[in-house]
Amino acid sequence: MARNDLLVVGVLIACCIAGGSSTFADDNPIRQVVDGLHDLETSILQIVGNSRRALSFARFAHRYGKRYEDADEMQKRFEIFSENLRIIRSHNKKGLPYILAVNEFADLTWDEFRKHKLGAAQNCSATARGNHKLTDVVLPETKDWRETGIVSPVKNQGHCGSCWTFSTTGALEAAYAQAFGKGISLSEQQLVDCARAFNNFGCNGGLPSQAFVYIKFNGGLDTEDAYPYTGKDGVCKYSSENVGVKVLDSVNITLGAEDELKHAVGIVRPVSVAFEVVTGFRFYKEGIYTSTSCGSNPMDVNHAVLAIGYGVENGIPYWLIKNSWGADWGDNGYFKMEMGKNMCGVATCASYPIVA
Ligand SMILES: *[C@@H]1O[C@H](CO)[C@@H](O)[C@H](O)[C@H]1NC(C)=O
Ligand SMILES: *[C@@H]1O[C@H](CO)[C@@H](O)[C@H](O)[C@H]1NC(C)=O
Repeated sequence: MARNDLLVVGVLIACCIAGGSSTFADDNPIRQVVDGLHDLETSILQIVGNSRRALSFARFAHRYGKRYEDADEMQKRFEIFSENLRIIRSHNKKGLPYILAVNEFADLTWDEFRKHKLGAAQNCSATARGNHKLTDVVLPETKDWRETGIVSPVKNQGHCGSCWTFSTTGALEAAYAQAFGKGISLSEQQLVDCARAFNNFGCNGGLPSQAFVYIKFNGGLDTEDAYPYTGKDGVCKYSSENVGVKVLDSVNITLGAEDELKHAVGIVRPVSVAFEVVTGFRFYKEGIYTSTSCGSNPMDVNHAVLAIGYGVENGIPYWLIKNSWGADWGDNGYFKMEMGKNMCGVATCASYPIVA
C-alpha cells in the first residue's frame, strides 16, 4: 500500500554506461571471474571497483536487469546494496527461524521501498466485531490450500501500493475455483480505479474487506483479461459484460482473533489478511518470520496478503501466506509467519468472500 508511485528507481532508466568490454589487466586477481561476466557486470565493476562485494553487486544488477542512469547513481546503489548485504548477512548469523537473502529490492533503501510498495496504513478497527462463526469441528493439523489446486499463481503488484487488490483477487480466485471447479484470474485494476467510494485509495492503499463490499454493491469484478493491470491510478473502466465473479457477502474475522482465523483458513478457504511490514521483511527468503519490531495496532498494518494455510515447523506454529511481490520473492512468492501471537497484526484485519 504505497503513498505514492512517483518514485522511479534506477531500474527503469536506460543504461548508458561507457565501455562494453572488459579492460581489466591480465594480472587482475578476479580476472577469471570477470571473463565470465556480461557487459553490464563488467561496466559496473569499472565504476564501483572490483572487490568481492562489487562482484556480488554486479551479479545482482545483471540477474534483476537493473539499469542505472549514470555512474553516480550506480555508486549510490552500490552503497545501499552493500549496507543491505551487511544487514542480510548479520541477520543470517543470528540463528533465527527464518533467513534473508538478496532479492530485487537490495538496491533500495527501506524508505524508498516503503514508498513504492507499502503505504498509508489503514484503519481496520471496523472489523472489531467479526461475523465468522466458530464450530466444534476438529481442524486439520496442517493446511495448504495449494494442494487442492484452488490457489491461483502468485502475481506482482509492481510499483503501486495495490497489495490490497491482490489480496482481494487472490481470495476471490480461490473462492471461485472452490465453488466452480475451475480457475479464473480477476482484475486488480478495477479495484485500483473504481473502489474509492468504499474507503479505498488505489495505489495509495485500501482494505480487502472494503473491496469485497465494493464488489458486492457494484455487481461484480471483471476478469484480468478484460481489465488488465497497469499498476497506476486510472479512470474506472468497469464493464458489467466482463464480470468474472460476483460477491454475495463477506465475512470478517474479529480483530486479533487467531482462533477464528485458523478455523476459517482450516475449513473454509484462504483468507485475506494484513500485517505490518517492517524493515528486513522485504529480504525474507525462507523459514518462519517473526519480529519484535512490528506491532498489531490496527492503525499500523500496511500490507495485505492471503493466508492459504498453516502448519508447524521445528516446533513453531506458522501461517502460510501468499504475497504479491512476484514468484521470485521469498519462498516461491510465499512466506511463513509465526502463529499464536497475532504477529505483526496478522489477525487484525482479516476477511474472506462468499462468491456467486
Ligand atoms: C478507526 O475506525 C473505527 C471504527 O470505524 C473508529 O471508531 C476509529 O475512530 C478510527 N480510528 C482512527 C484513528 O481513525
Ligand atoms: C467487514 O469490515 C468492513 C470494513 O473493514 C466493513 O465495511 C464491512 O461492513 C464488514 N462486513 C461485515 C459483514 O460486517
